[in-house]
Amino acid sequence: MIKLNIDIEDIIAVLKKNKYFNEWYSYVKDILESPEFQKRKLYLHHDDSVYHHCISVSFESYLLASKLHADKRICAIAGLLHDFYPKAWQFTQELYEKHPDAIRTKRSLLKMHGFVHAKEAAKNYQKYYPNLIDKKITNTIKTHMFPLTIVPPRYKEGWIVSLADKIISFRTINIKSIPKLLGLSSPQFKTSKINH
Ligand SMILES: [Fe+2]
Ligand SMILES: [Fe+2]
Repeated sequence: MIKLNIDIEDIIAVLKKNKYFNEWYSYVKDILESPEFQKRKLYLHHDDSVYHHCISVSFESYLLASKLHADKRICAIAGLLHDFYPKAWQFTQELYEKHPDAIRTKRSLLKMHGFVHAKEAAKNYQKYYPNLIDKKITNTIKTHMFPLTIVPPRYKEGWIVSLADKIISFRTINIKSIPKLLGLSSPQFKTSKINH
C-alpha cells in the first residue's frame, strides 16, 4: 500500500535520531515547508512519494558530503531539489483532483521522464527558489541522471547527489521495475490504495 501525504513529523522523527540532523535541517527547512515542495507529497516516485524520496536523497547526499569533504549545504539543497520537476510522472486520483495542472501527458520516447526531468527540475527550482540559485546546485540537478543523460556532473557535489540518488533508488529495486525506475516506461495513473 502506498503511503502518500506522509507527515513531515514522521520523517523528521526518524532523521532526528541522527547526530547530523540539526545542520542538515537548517539548510533545507525553508524548502520543506514551502507549499510547492509540499505538493510533492502527492507526486509518486515508484512506490514512494517524490517528497520522501527527495528527503532521503538530500540526507544521504549531506552525509556523503561530510565524509568526502564536499559542500554539505549544496549537497543537502541539490539533493532535495534534484527531482523538483513541475509535472508528475506517475500520479494519483488525489493529485488529479487537487492539482490537475500537475498532470503530465504522454510523451515520445526522447521526451520520456528519464531523459528530461533533470533539466526541467534545474529550471523549476529557479522559479520557486530564486534566492537559492547557484551554478553548483543547477549543474548538480541537471546532471543527476548521468550516465542515462550523457553530460556528467561538473562538480564533486554533483557526483555525490547522483550517487545518493542511485543508492536510495536501488535500495528498493525490483528487476522488473528498472525501466520504470529510469523513467523509460509510460506514465501510469494510480487511483487506489492511497492512505490519508
Ligand atoms: Fe531523478
Ligand atoms: Fe531521484
